[in-house]
Amino acid sequence: MSVSPVVTLKNDLLLRALAGEAVQRPPVWMMRQAGRYLPDYRKLQDQYDFFTRVQTPDLVAEITVMPVHQVGVDAAILFSDILVMLQAFGVEVQMVPGKGPVIPHTVRTLEDARRFTLPDVEDVLHYVMDGIRATQRALDGAVPLIGFAGAPWTLLCYWVEGKGSKAFDDARAFCFAQPEAAHYLLDLLTEATIRYLNAQVAAGVQAVQLFDSWAGLLAPADFYRFSFPYLKRIAEGVSGVPLILFARGAEHALADLAQTPASALGLDWTASPEQARALTGGKITLQGNFDPAKLLAPVPYIQQEVRRMMDAFGCQRYIANLGHGILPQVPPDHARAFVEAVQSVG
Ligand code: CP3
Repeated sequence: MSVSPVVTLKNDLLLRALAGEAVQRPPVWMMRQAGRYLPDYRKLQDQYDFFTRVQTPDLVAEITVMPVHQVGVDAAILFSDILVMLQAFGVEVQMVPGKGPVIPHTVRTLEDARRFTLPDVEDVLHYVMDGIRATQRALDGAVPLIGFAGAPWTLLCYWVEGKGSKAFDDARAFCFAQPEAAHYLLDLLTEATIRYLNAQVAAGVQAVQLFDSWAGLLAPADFYRFSFPYLKRIAEGVSGVPLILFARGAEHALADLAQTPASALGLDWTASPEQARALTGGKITLQGNFDPAKLLAPVPYIQQEVRRMMDAFGCQRYIANLGHGILPQVPPDHARAFVEAVQSVG
């Protein structure tokens, strides 16, 4: 394993907010900021298919720095995808333009599940670590680089369902009907994810985010069976950099999530900032939670709503972000207005 390079950052606001240090103003970045809505990204989309973009370190670097240079965010998030982890297990994943991910061979039985064993993620996903090193060269210390992975429950959703879904009924049913198979896979995904995130740290990311995008589909008691223990294990197993836990829709569990070693908790836009502060005792950094659809409203409205959000969260122990990924149809000017509205505070 290579040693993480010591980089002096020109802008370390994100790391200071994650460490709970005093800041002049909160840092701001946007989930799914790399790709989707930027015209320069669309050009690369026409030239290379999705996994070629993900697997080519120079393209990863080029796409990752785009929002830093073009939108002015205070942090970069690596261009990649959570589903590369399924590929590391030998699962075929297709990205169908206009439709999203498709997994032709899903797992449905204990026998299917038991066929899988822990992959050598550092080896199979070496292109991600190469992408991190290429990105750090391109960033040249401008802002911190965030690595990421999908949470075990969210990855299991795709592995069982085989495609995107509103409620992932088959994945939930799999957990209830075949708990032994579900826990076998969740355990494997957890171990692989700990190794994967630590490999990203060794390659040079300065923070990591764990995306549990579908946490809110589970009833609270089921979240505590099929997601929370694995999130906690990952938070405990990743060392060297702060970890942001985004359990979307699981605000009911904020008090317990705040007890894990995570440095920050992500909130979606249905969460109340005041309630989230109260539930977490004001002791942990919170990230979020601007409704991404508000970026489609006129700029003065965006500015007004950003001020409201920041008044509600307060400027300390806070990372301004969206409550979920930026929508592909957002005008880049509106994304810039969001970022500038945060940066004009303080
Ligand atoms: O934040 C970033 O911009 C970094 C890159 C990133 C991508 N995916 C690139 C991508 C990140 C952090 C992700 C995470 C991801 N991927 C999640 C968790 C976050 C979330 O939004 O809930 C999930 C659930 C996925 C799985 C996935 N990948 C789906 C459902 C889709 C299709 C629909 C969509 O979101 O666009 C993808 C494809 C994907 N991943 C695209 C991008 C830029 C769009 C396809 C393309 O650009 O060709």
